[in-house]
Amino acid sequence: MYDVLYRRGLTPWVAAGHAQSALIERLLDREESWHGAAAGRTLVDLGCGTGEHSLAAATRGWTVVGIDASAVAIDRARRAAAASGLDVRFVAGDVRRLTDVPGLRPGVSVFVDVGCHHGLRAADRRLVADGVARLAASRASLLVVGMDRRPGLVGVGVTADGLAADFPGWRVEPGQTFELGGRGLLRRVRFRVFRLVKGDPSGGGASDAGGPRPTISRP
Ligand SMILES: C[S@@+](CC[C@H](N)C(=O)[O-])C[C@H]1O[C@@H](n2cnc3c(N)ncnc32)[C@H](O)[C@@H]1O
Repeated sequence: MYDVLYRRGLTPWVAAGHAQSALIERLLDREESWHGAAAGRTLVDLGCGTGEHSLAAATRGWTVVGIDASAVAIDRARRAAAASGLDVRFVAGDVRRLTDVPGLRPGVSVFVDVGCHHGLRAADRRLVADGVARLAASRASLLVVGMDRRPGLVGVGVTADGLAADFPGWRVEPGQTFELGGRGLLRRVRFRVFRLVKGDPSGGGASDAGGPRPTISRP
């Protein structure tokens, strides 16, 4: 299905590029202050699409693997990497079978998921979580950006409680809500961004009901 959307240009997430890019840069700033220098560390972009976030991370020195099921998107991502002279490995693959992705080895520091997780079925989310758990370094983090789960959007969207259930043993930090703004189709859609940290179950899952919900300012 995504191949068709990419070919026809029905990709509002690409149209939202600038606004999303600014968010990703801020998120990567934070990861670099937590993990230390990007150099020598691996970041995996789950459902990388045409690769904008992967390329942003590679520019900052991360060793990046971008995975997407759409061959059309991966082809565009590879072209963009070649055009920018960045060495990013873009793989046409399935995030539900991460351990089958060629060359992807344990020791991943950061996983990024922008807009993929929120559309997966519950069983598929658990398959992704299983692969992430197998590949994560002992000190690892996962960033999930997805649509806020709203009444009526059955099965779509991302919540703290859902992430806590899917990723046992990971601490879910309180989510932040934001709107992309700008002019694209997604400008009024409420998104959530969550950060999960491996191996710190003491914090439990961040409840959707509690805690402040800071709004990330529009870029
Ligand atoms: C909304 S797009 C977001 C793309 C990109 N992360 C971005 O922010 O521009 C969701 C992406 O997830 C990919 N995707 C969906 N299910 C997938 C799966 N099971 N394995 C790999 N990629 C998948 C789609 O092909 C699509 O490119």
